[in-house]
Amino acid sequence: MSTDSLNVIKQSIQTIPDYPKPGILFRDVTSLMEDPAAYQATIDALVAQYRDHGFTKVIGTESRGFLFGAPLALALGLPFVPVRKPGKLPRAVISENYQLEYGEDTLEIHRDAIGEGDKVLVIDDLLATGGTIEATVKLVRRLGGTVEHAGFVISLPDIGGEEKLAALGINVYSLCEFA
Ligand code: PRP
Ligand code: ADE
Repeated sequence: MSTDSLNVIKQSIQTIPDYPKPGILFRDVTSLMEDPAAYQATIDALVAQYRDHGFTKVIGTESRGFLFGAPLALALGLPFVPVRKPGKLPRAVISENYQLEYGEDTLEIHRDAIGEGDKVLVIDDLLATGGTIEATVKLVRRLGGTVEHAGFVISLPDIGGEEKLAALGINVYSLCEFA
């Protein structure tokens, strides 16, 4: 990934102070997606990072993880599995509760979407506390899948998510950091 491409990606991400709560600097990927060159560079960079790893499935977490996980899965020729907020998935599910940088929530996955032998790549737009991806990793492992890699467009290294995921045996890759 060239420095130019990484600059295009990082500069396309707008920062909104005090959203959704006072004190939060919100790193907004909608501005990245409004820039086709930046969006394409983002997917290309994730493909370059994750091709030839032997993954069997890509998971994206609701909702912003869908925006990067689904195009990446298509580009890699792999199935895409959504992890969703409660009550959204129609087949039988399992659930995990988790803490956010600014709240608390639950995530669910279809029970039959992951099984023994699956080697899963988890994708989200942003890593903050790591709570979302910790819950996602637990869901995958409860269903017998293997997960050792999580990829992000943005990491916020000061908030501790990388350490939380490292303690779970997860290798983190992110395209840009906002310290
Ligand atoms: C945001 C973001 C990540 C998560 C990161 O999602 O898209 O999924 O928070 O925070 P964490 O590392 O502290 O868990 P949010 O739950 O706000 O939902 P959204 O994608 O539907 O906006
Ligand atoms: N999700 C959690 N923290 C966030 C932040 N600072 N900006 C955008 N999305 C987030």
